[in-house]
Amino acid sequence: MTSAYDTLQDQLRRQPRHWLVTGAAGFIGSHLIETLLQLEQTVTGLDNFATGHRHNLDAVRASVGDAAWSRFRFIEGDIRQLADCQAACTGVQIVLHQAALGSVPRSLADPITSNAVNVSGFLNMLVAARDANVQRFVYAASSSTYGDHPGLPKMEDVIGKPLSPYAVTKLVNELYADVFGRSYGLQSIGLRYFNVFGPRQDPNGAYAAVIPKWAAAILAGETVFINGDGLTSRDFCYVANAVQANLLAGTVQDAAAVNQVYNVAVGDQTDLNQLHGMLVAALQAQRPGLAGQGPAYRGFRDGDVRHSRADISKAARLLGYTPSHTIRAGLEIAASWYARAS
Ligand SMILES: NC(=O)c1ccc[n+]([C@@H]2O[C@H](COP(=O)([O-])OP(=O)(O)OC[C@H]3O[C@@H](n4cnc5c(N)ncnc54)[C@H](O)[C@@H]3O)[C@@H](O)[C@H]2O)c1
Repeated sequence: MTSAYDTLQDQLRRQPRHWLVTGAAGFIGSHLIETLLQLEQTVTGLDNFATGHRHNLDAVRASVGDAAWSRFRFIEGDIRQLADCQAACTGVQIVLHQAALGSVPRSLADPITSNAVNVSGFLNMLVAARDANVQRFVYAASSSTYGDHPGLPKMEDVIGKPLSPYAVTKLVNELYADVFGRSYGLQSIGLRYFNVFGPRQDPNGAYAAVIPKWAAAILAGETVFINGDGLTSRDFCYVANAVQANLLAGTVQDAAAVNQVYNVAVGDQTDLNQLHGMLVAALQAQRPGLAGQGPAYRGFRDGDVRHSRADISKAARLLGYTPSHTIRAGLEIAASWYARAS
């Protein structure tokens, strides 16, 4: 059966648009520009390399080829500067706003900088997008917005109190986007990502996400540390699913689908012990003979949500979202990339 995403890809090829991807040198942003350029779109990228890398842009260039790359314009700039946001929005039809400082522990260590980028920078982007009359403003929201609400699966309308400064910033994004819809008619869609993973997710640094951090440790024969008892669970989402959600959100025409937030995940729950076993197996398939020693356990991490699993029926119903990759399929691709990159 032809999916909404298949139909959309054909439409985009026939009628290309001009997209802005902020955070283009980051993990998710680089996958967005790669897919958009493959679909013959015109793309502007904005990034200040705070956590993104030039080598991600180089990898996209190598993947799409020079002809497609000629449709990409890169602006090195900072969303904390309104002028940079204005320059990036010029001539753009659809914004995919990814630039932010991720990581719960980073926001606990330095809430001021996380707020400056994730809240003030976000507001700059909204103002610039409004003034440039963009057609749609899609932004990276977060499953951290569910905070201390214990209900499972997570439904968009039922949220708890934020458990970290990072979660506050992502909740404020949703509030501002909603108010810009009511006050100025800006069409926005927030995508609450649930633990996105895949190639190019940075394994380095104190604030690396769990899958790249563990992949690097396993490949180097180092001990993997699990924070807590290993029963903490997440709805791990391969990056191609997040790309699909962005492209659908950027173009959906149904008025009921706009000025909404959506869960972007698979709808599965995997605990950290299971994740460790799956990741070791996926890496051993790449490197036969790789040792897969058991993990070591240490204390729970501050600010972490205990369990997470998304209800994805709203995105399915209003956006036509159907995740293409399970966690296992995604881990195989990610493991192959980490094995090659290490
Ligand atoms: N990866 C996940 O699991 C996940 C989950 C929920 C939400 N998100 C959100 O998705 C978005 C993308 O995350 P990611 O995983 O690709 O992280 P990433 O760190 O790889 O990408 C973020 C990008 O934004 C750029 N950036 C940061 N501050 C900037 C600034 N002031 N001006 C311009 N660019 C700036 C960084 O340099 C980086 O390239 C973020 O908004 C993040 O909060 C990610």
